[in-house]
Amino acid sequence: MPQQRQAFQAPAGTRDVLAPDSARWEALVVAFGRQVERAGYGLILSPVFEETGVFVRGMGEGTDVVSKEMYEFRDKGDRHLALRPEGTASVVRAFVQHRPPVVWKAWYVTPAFRYERPQAGRYRQHHQLGVEALGTEDPDLDVEVVTLASRFFAELGLSRVELKVNSMGDANCRPAYIESLRAYLEEHQDELCDEHRERYAANPLRVLDCKDEACVRATANAPRLLESLCGPCAGHFGRVRSGLEALGVEYTIDHRLVRGFDYYTRTAFEFAALALEAAQNGIGGGGRYDGLVEALGGPPTPGIGFAIGIERLLQACDAEGAFPTPATTLDAFVVDLTGGAAARDITDELRTAGLRADRAFDRRSARAQLKAADRSGAELALIVGPDEAAAGTVTVHWLRAEREEERVPRHEVAKAVRDALERARS
Ligand code: HAM
Repeated sequence: MPQQRQAFQAPAGTRDVLAPDSARWEALVVAFGRQVERAGYGLILSPVFEETGVFVRGMGEGTDVVSKEMYEFRDKGDRHLALRPEGTASVVRAFVQHRPPVVWKAWYVTPAFRYERPQAGRYRQHHQLGVEALGTEDPDLDVEVVTLASRFFAELGLSRVELKVNSMGDANCRPAYIESLRAYLEEHQDELCDEHRERYAANPLRVLDCKDEACVRATANAPRLLESLCGPCAGHFGRVRSGLEALGVEYTIDHRLVRGFDYYTRTAFEFAALALEAAQNGIGGGGRYDGLVEALGGPPTPGIGFAIGIERLLQACDAEGAFPTPATTLDAFVVDLTGGAAARDITDELRTAGLRADRAFDRRSARAQLKAADRSGAELALIVGPDEAAAGTVTVHWLRAEREEERVPRHEVAKAVRDALERARS
């Protein structure tokens, strides 16, 4: 007996999504695309890998995702490349390269790669739905972008989603804030978690992002970003808040919200699914990045966007019983007892006519074919036996409803199937 070879598994932290679950993904992407296209966003397709510099310069050398989690490699031409850990830096690189007219609005669906410790809701390849809008500082654009995400969650049927917002300030006011935070942390150094007791000085903002109880407690009375904003940043944030309020988008201010990448300026926001465990309940987030286009070599151009994690979002839908997997049943399954040519021809005719049809292969028995028809979820079995073949007919048999079987002419089988389904559904 030949020995069976050991089978491979998907790499740690990655997952296969098979039908019927994949139908839910498909429906989610379609729903998102439809919604953001109504707001003028066009789909962008861009490479899943970039020169490493795009992410290093875009997201910041010191951020965890860039310094510890990036999938970097050298290709056969010795180019230093990285799999995208997120979409924003690539979309902005594409903007700088092609210079489309502003305001430029793009949406995407993409895998994202981060070498994280795999656990529930945290993967090494996850998937994002996102938008980026470039070319204006108008706070109404912030309101539009945040509202798009918020309305999308509502459209899916999620009701337990919390929107948290903050302002990160800008190059004018943030440096002074960081200094005051650093001074505060120095005073409270002994109260911080092990990691930040050592490392708070390098990037004090990260301490605000830390989920460790010790850091949360120690920073409860830390200086707040919102209280050190310069006039223009404070004015901008005020207009974002009043815009959200005018549109009835509920939010809370989160003084600890600082986001993980260096490119953020001014408005920052996150959506938490309250039905999920707090550690992994971030289903989406984003913000402004008014300096990113310049950092990647383009002209000064403000921008804002968000990304939603598809896996987390679907977990939140599961937890709330929202957005179920859509039914993808067939219209008809052809049961051919005459050798298979009739099944080949009829399925082709039905599909060409826009109907969903399948068949069995390998000249299976009548019993096996009917079982397959039943398992397929089809409404109808179209049976071609020797009698039907001789008479030029097809028997239409209802698999899921108590309805009379009928024989229809073979040459108009597609019309007969369509009529029968319409009668049954009306
Ligand atoms: P992010 O917060 O890093 O933002 O990721 C967006 C979403 O992706 C998160 O809210 C989460 O749902 C999901 N996510 C992130 N990492 C993982 C992971 N390891 N496993 C599963 N899901 C994950 C960004 O990526 C920014 N580019 C968002 C943005 C767009 N900012 C401006 N424009």
